[in-house]
Amino acid sequence: MKDQFGRNIHYLRLSVTDRCNLRCRYCMPKEGIQKERHDEILSFEEILQLVSLFVKAGIDKIRLTGGEPLVRKKLPNLIEAINRENSIRDFSITTNGILLKHHAKEILDAGISRINISLDTMKASKFREIAQIGDLKDVLEGIATVQTLGFKPIKINTVLIKGVNDDEIEDFINLTRHEDLEVRFIELMPVGGNRGYSRTHFMPNTEVLKRCPDLIPISGTDKSSTASKYLIPGYRGRVGLISPNSHKFCGACNRVRLTADGKMKTCLLSNEEVDLKSALRRNVSVEELIRKNIFLKPGDHHLETGGFVTRNMSAIGG
Ligand code: 5AD
Ligand code: SF4
Repeated sequence: MKDQFGRNIHYLRLSVTDRCNLRCRYCMPKEGIQKERHDEILSFEEILQLVSLFVKAGIDKIRLTGGEPLVRKKLPNLIEAINRENSIRDFSITTNGILLKHHAKEILDAGISRINISLDTMKASKFREIAQIGDLKDVLEGIATVQTLGFKPIKINTVLIKGVNDDEIEDFINLTRHEDLEVRFIELMPVGGNRGYSRTHFMPNTEVLKRCPDLIPISGTDKSSTASKYLIPGYRGRVGLISPNSHKFCGACNRVRLTADGKMKTCLLSNEEVDLKSALRRNVSVEELIRKNIFLKPGDHHLETGGFVTRNMSAIGG
């Protein structure tokens, strides 16, 4: 449906858990995180009820996020049920890849073939430095698994972290030489407990273009896409730049979010939340609430004037 600014809102980012099997420094605060109590998290039945109301309000594209979505038990059953009960044109998932080799086949069979995998480094020791736990090897095996199973497209999300992984920009771009992958560099955003970190480690995406002048913009990129797309002639894959700080894409924003604890967020970078879970549990008309708040979605964000999001990214889902 259209919002107050005439934007067509048809994309739902659905966080299925706030838990994660990694602790990326830019995502979770050093002191650790407050996990939601189990009964605060939406059940599959509640998610299905809410999804069907979002679909009624015009959602036809869904991305599953977390925390790490694959740590949610029986996730393939949820995917399968969402697909069975709704007509979703575009169904995808964003994962950190750690558990992917175990679950890739099931999620593909359940109806998801578009996948984004987060990968900030291709060096094992640096992986530990960034993610604090977990092994790079598992992520790389997960990527290899989805390539052999035929997921398409496969996108790699790389958050640019100054002084930490910017020495690997060329290596990431080189991945696109022989592989049919899209490598997407994401600018670090000040979200949750990472305020200081995101300031000291911020690097604008323009740096990628400086380091790699061979990148050529691809014209006709989907206007609502958050990524500007590039390629190197002769290479199989593509490169995307996602620059929320230096390049606002709010004017073409088409998305809303539902957190694992049942709060609707109409802007990632705003602290406004609508408590759909309580409404659902109290039998209040949730359909009205969803429609009203999609309509009222804010026109843009305020990062540049020092705006700040208090929830951790792991509790929003990116
Ligand atoms: N800034 C930019 N990207 C982030 N992600 C998590 N936290 C941040 C942040 N503060 C990314 C993850 C993942 C996606 C869901 O969001 O690396 O790729
Ligand atoms: Fe890292 Fe994503 Fe887990 Fe955050 S949610 S700690 S970015 S893997």
